[in-house]
Amino acid sequence: MAEVLLVPGKVAKRCGVAVSALHFYEQKGLIHSSRNAGNQRRYHKDVMRRIALIKAAQNLGISLEEIKQTLATLPDMRTPTQEDWQQLAQQWRERLDQRIRAMTALRDSLTGCIGCGCLSMKNCPMYNKDDELAAAGPGAVLLNRRMT
Ligand code: FES
Repeated sequence: MAEVLLVPGKVAKRCGVAVSALHFYEQKGLIHSSRNAGNQRRYHKDVMRRIALIKAAQNLGISLEEIKQTLATLPDMRTPTQEDWQQLAQQWRERLDQRIRAMTALRDSLTGCIGCGCLSMKNCPMYNKDDELAAAGPGAVLLNRRMT
């Protein structure tokens, strides 16, 4: 029996995404298509499960790069099974817990700044006092550390 391949419009409609999102996911290596004789994209029906996982992960704030890395850990880049999803969800739950702790610490250090607005290099806890972290690299070094 011949494999049923889906046209992009049908996949997009059933997944609740735009066709351009399919192209974007494909460009990022998150999903794959084949081409028919007319060089038009066709998708295996399993792509819908992959897209559902991508959307769920995005709703959790997981970056597309992280999603790609996680999907790449599946044997033969296969579509996640229910068991795979449970394992991925557990990994992402730990990442989310780390982020929640980092954001809570950030929120708590922001309390003194609310209604202040001084951005004093000496007194503001959100600021990089005396630029002590300059040697650690550019940007918000502390914030980046808290987020990883
Ligand atoms: S803005 Fe004044 S303490 Fe942060």
